[in-house]
This record gives sequence, structure tokens and C-alpha cells, in this order.
Amino acid sequence: MNVLVLNGPNLNLLGTREPSVYGATTLADVEALCREAGAARGASVDCRQSNHEGQLIDWIHEAGVAHREGRLAGVVFNAGAYTHTSIALHDAIKGAGVPVIEVHISNVHARESFRHHSWLSPVAAGIVVGFGVDGYVLAIDGLLRKTASSRS
Ligand code: DQA
Repeated sequence: MNVLVLNGPNLNLLGTREPSVYGATTLADVEALCREAGAARGASVDCRQSNHEGQLIDWIHEAGVAHREGRLAGVVFNAGAYTHTSIALHDAIKGAGVPVIEVHISNVHARESFRHHSWLSPVAAGIVVGFGVDGYVLAIDGLLRKTASSRS
């Protein structure tokens, strides 16, 4: 089974961006961690990052097709600040019909109030918040466990 890990705006800066909030791990390290986590669970993990909302929407649509064709378990998605602003990503997830696990490295609920609302949460299959970059591994695990239990 395959998993798509998507990272949105500014997450290419991981490692140097506000390390006191997001840690010192780079995006390349996070992606390697995700591929290892997938491999340990028999899944192949494709990782992509974009700073552009439209590109993220296109990838969600593509993921919907792959999910319907049985090629993709779902998407692990850290949409960065688009989480708090993007009705277009909400609609894309709803329309594509692919399970999406929403991830945030930081505990957004313990931060500024503008980070407390998520347009993704109502259409997410699960949410992992505040576990640092380990959250991606927890999300991959949760997605694959959900997929396995929905098949048995
Ligand atoms: C984030 C939290 C968002 O509020 C922020 O805009 C990000 C990263 C996180 O992983 O904690 O870019 O999604």
C-alpha cells in the first residue's frame, strides 16, 4: 500500500524556521523518517512539498484517483498556514474522497488564536497535533491501521 505525505507552505524551511517551535529536523530528514516508517509497515511513501495552494489541490485530486483505484491508502498532510485559511483545500479533500490525516508539528491549540481553527479538521480522517516531527510517523501508522481495519 502507498501513502502520500504532503507538506504545505514554509515547511521547506524546517530545520532553520523557528527551531524553538518546529525543532531542528530538516524537511529532508522528515521525509526520510516517513519513508522508513512506511517501509517498516510494508508501505511505500511518496513525499512532496509545495508553497502553492493550487499545487496542493492538484495533488489531493490525484490522490483521490489513486485511492479509488486501490493504489493509495491516503494522505498525511501538514498544510501549514493553509490549514487556517483554505476552504479550497477543505473542498478538495471532500471532493477527492481520499482519507487525509491532518498533522501539525506544534500544538496549534496552545499557540495564537488564529491557529485554533482548521478548515481541514472537519474533512480529515484523523488529526495528529503537537508531537513534533514524530507526528508524521504516528499519522502514517494511524492511516495504515485504519486502512487495515476497514478491509477486515
Ligand atoms: C503547522 C502549524 C501552522 O499553524 C503553521 O502555519 C505551520 C506549521 C505545524 O506543523 O505546527 O506552518 O502546521
